Amino acid sequence: MKSLTFPYGVGFRSLESETRAPAPLRIEGALPAWLQGMLLRTGPAKFEVGDRTYNHWFDGLAMLHRFAFAKGAVTYASRFLEGNAFNAAERTDKISYAEFTTDPCRTLFGRVAAWFDPKFTDNCCVNVMDYGGKIVAFTETMLPMRFEPDTLATLGVLAYDKALSGQVSTAHAHYDVSRKRHYNYIVSFGHHSVYRLIAVSDSGAQELVAEIPVDRPSYMHSFAMTEHNLVLVEFPIVVSALELKFSGKPFIQNYRWLPERGLKFHIVEKDSGKVTTNAHSDPCFAFHHVNAYEGANGLAIDMVAYDDASIIDQLYLARLRAGTPITATGTLTRFHAPLNGDAVTRETLAPIAIELPRINYEAHAGRPYRYVWGAGIETEGDFLDSIVKIDLGLRRIARWYRKGLYPGEPVFVAAPGAMAEDEGVLLSIVLDVEKDRSLLLVLDAANLQELARAEAPHPIPFHFHGNYFAGAN
Ligand SMILES: [Fe+2]
Repeated sequence: MKSLTFPYGVGFRSLESETRAPAPLRIEGALPAWLQGMLLRTGPAKFEVGDRTYNHWFDGLAMLHRFAFAKGAVTYASRFLEGNAFNAAERTDKISYAEFTTDPCRTLFGRVAAWFDPKFTDNCCVNVMDYGGKIVAFTETMLPMRFEPDTLATLGVLAYDKALSGQVSTAHAHYDVSRKRHYNYIVSFGHHSVYRLIAVSDSGAQELVAEIPVDRPSYMHSFAMTEHNLVLVEFPIVVSALELKFSGKPFIQNYRWLPERGLKFHIVEKDSGKVTTNAHSDPCFAFHHVNAYEGANGLAIDMVAYDDASIIDQLYLARLRAGTPITATGTLTRFHAPLNGDAVTRETLAPIAIELPRINYEAHAGRPYRYVWGAGIETEGDFLDSIVKIDLGLRRIARWYRKGLYPGEPVFVAAPGAMAEDEGVLLSIVLDVEKDRSLLLVLDAANLQELARAEAPHPIPFHFHGNYFAGAN
C-alpha cells in the first residue's frame, strides 16, 4: 500500500485483526455511573482482498465493534461480520460479491450472468439497529444480518417475507414508539419498478404499507418519518432498471445526476398507506434525513443537504487515501412541505458543514425537536474533525475540536429520567492520529464538555453508524 502522508489517512487503512475477547480499556475521566449497556457499531474494515482493493469507502468488508459499559468500566471487542461476502473473500482470496462501487472478479460473460443469478451482498457495514426484536447489522440490500451482541458472532440473515420483495433497501429504518414498529423502504427494480414502504413490528411481523410506482428509481440512503406520515424524498440521482441489469457496471455507477428532475416528495399516511401529497422542490442530494415533524402548515423535513451528488465520487478510497480534500459539504437544511401540494420551500438551518447527524431519537423522532449533533469540519478541506451541536431554538452552534482528533458519529444517550432534550451523553469513536489509536470519547451532550475517554488497542477505520443498547452486561 502507498504510504499515507496526511494526518487522517490511517482512518482508511485496513484493520485485519479482531479483538474477540473483550479488552478492558483504561479510562481518563469518569464515565457516568448510569451508563450500563453497549455501543454496537459496524463499518468497513478490510479494503484489500487478494491482489485487489475495494474502490470506495462504502465497499470494505464489515467489522462489528462493541464498547460495553458496566460499573464505570468499559471494554472493547471487534469481529468481522461473517456473511457470504466475507466468507467467500476469505475462502477464495477474491472479491466475490458486488458492492456499492466494486464488482466481483468475473468474466464479461459472467457480468451479464450475475444479474440472472444475483448474488446480493450481505456485507452489512452501514448500521446496527434493534430490528423486529433482533440485533441486526444493515447494508443497503435486502439481507440484514443478525448477530449475537455479546460475542459478535454472526447468526444469519433476517429474512423478509416474499411479498416484500426487492433488491435495495436502507440501513436507516425508522422506529415508531407508539406503533411499536419499524418502517423502511425497498426498491424493486424491473420493467415496472416500485418503491415499497414496509413495517416490521417488534414481534417480527412484516407488512406492506404502500407501493409507489417509479419510472427511474432514485438513490435514497434514508427517508423521513413524522408522527403520522412517511416521506420519500427522491433525489435527482436516478437509474434505469434496464441499464442496471445489463450495463455490467458496479451498482452506483449506473445512476445519473439529472438535476432537471428536481426533488420529488412522496408523503404517505402510515395508517392508511395512502399517498396524500406529491410535492416538488429544487434539486439537491442527501444521505441523511435528520428528523421531520408535522407543523401547522405542513411538514418540516430536515436533512443534511448537498448541492449535488458529487460527494459520492469524493469518497472513493483512492482519493481518500491520497488525502484529496473533500470539497462537497452538507448543511442542515429544512424543507417545508405544505400538505396541499403547494411548492416546497427550503431554509438553511445552520451555515456549517455537518454529517452523521444524530438527535434525541427516542423522545423526538417524528416530533418537534431542538438539538442536532453531528460530525463537523472545523478546518476547511479537512475530513470530519470535530463534533458539533446545533441548537435550533436559539440558532446557536457549539463545537468540540481538538487538533489531530477525528471523531465519528456522535450517538446521543439520554440520562435516566432526563427532563431536557439534551440531558445525556454523546458517544463517539475518535481517531487520534498522533497516537495511532482510536478512542471512545464521552461528551456531555448539553455543553460538549469532555467527561471521559478510553483508548482502544489500535486505530479503528472510519465508519458510519451504530447505536447504544441499554442493559446490564
Ligand atoms: Fe448512513
